[in-house]
Amino acid sequence: MSDQKLPLSQETRSLALASPGVRRMFERGRELAARYGADAIADLSLGNPDLPVPPELTEALVAVAQEARHGYLPNAGLPELRRTLADRAARESRRPVTAEGVVVTVGAAGGLAIALRALLDPGDEVILFSPYFSEYPLYVRLAGGCPVVAEGDREHLPDPEALRAAITPRTRAVILDNPNNPSGSLADAERLARLAAVLDAAEQPIWLISDEPYADIVFDGLRTPPVLDAFTNVIVVRSWSKTLSIPGERIGAVLVPADVPAFPELMTNLIFANRALGFVHAPAIWQRVLARVPDLAVDPAPYERRRNRLTELVRAAGLDVVTPRGAFYLFPAVPGDDQVFAELAAAQRLLVVPGSSFGRPGHVRMAYCVADEVIERAGTCLARVMKELPHE
Ligand SMILES: Cc1ncc(COP(=O)(O)O)c(C=O)c1O
Repeated sequence: MSDQKLPLSQETRSLALASPGVRRMFERGRELAARYGADAIADLSLGNPDLPVPPELTEALVAVAQEARHGYLPNAGLPELRRTLADRAARESRRPVTAEGVVVTVGAAGGLAIALRALLDPGDEVILFSPYFSEYPLYVRLAGGCPVVAEGDREHLPDPEALRAAITPRTRAVILDNPNNPSGSLADAERLARLAAVLDAAEQPIWLISDEPYADIVFDGLRTPPVLDAFTNVIVVRSWSKTLSIPGERIGAVLVPADVPAFPELMTNLIFANRALGFVHAPAIWQRVLARVPDLAVDPAPYERRRNRLTELVRAAGLDVVTPRGAFYLFPAVPGDDQVFAELAAAQRLLVVPGSSFGRPGHVRMAYCVADEVIERAGTCLARVMKELPHE
């Protein structure tokens, strides 16, 4: 039966079929692991954090489970947690952030979904900087918008000039993730100020959606510069998936300072979207847990050590790579077609994701949230891949 005749949404089907390479490579890794054994492959495909959760988190989870409270919560989230998150954001910036400006969400993915739904009308444009998180174009399209790509610079950082050139009268929002997935690049405060100046000079108000799941995973003594002080019309999307190693639990938050234009209407839209997209609200048990341990995070030092080692192995294999400053991804340039390279790598039992999934061909993404021995194995597999490459 041809797709035309299927009694289904053609729009959703085309998005589903276009879905990115990350999960495909992850599935491939599972097949290879079943065939050869997990200790014969180096699966660097998925950003699934492997560091153990802090013991205080497990203690809080047990305590909350014993309370046995499982009823619905307000759609915007548990009042104590909203207040705690707002107080911290207000302390760390010069902006007025109050509990009314916080919505607890189903991870950053849920936060992005409601932010886009709250902002976009059909056909509105959303600017993404390449390389971008591979799900962004799908989220934008599902919210009725059109993704527009602004090329990042050679260090994979958002480029203010490319941003200026991408703005049209239909631009409603820009998504920034800092540090960046897939490259680990970290924009500094000066870069954020230049991006903000471009948005402030635009003819219409443009929202900056700051997607920050990796904000607390930064290396070399650096800090992620705060966006609340840099951008005027800003919506911050937070997540505990990576900082607490709990991506399966689906918990995050959206924060909006009270001095943005149309604040009450925006909050009404966000809270409505949280309910009506089917989330109703974020998982109650995790809201109660986080209200008990709001400042907890895993120590990112093991990621930094692995960043150092994998960078060394990749360079020793002859590939160029920009040193990542945060998150847990390496994004080396590869010779030839990145999809062909990823296939050659899979044949050598090394799973990586082609850069074209992130809007930047000619690269591959390696997730180093894996055990040290997997990183060593990846180095061995990569050396074999480099030998197999066709020579010109
Ligand atoms: C840049 C970026 N944004 C959002 C997400 C989604 O995170 P969450 O698990 O909080 O929904 C991810 C997950 O990998 C990500 O890398």
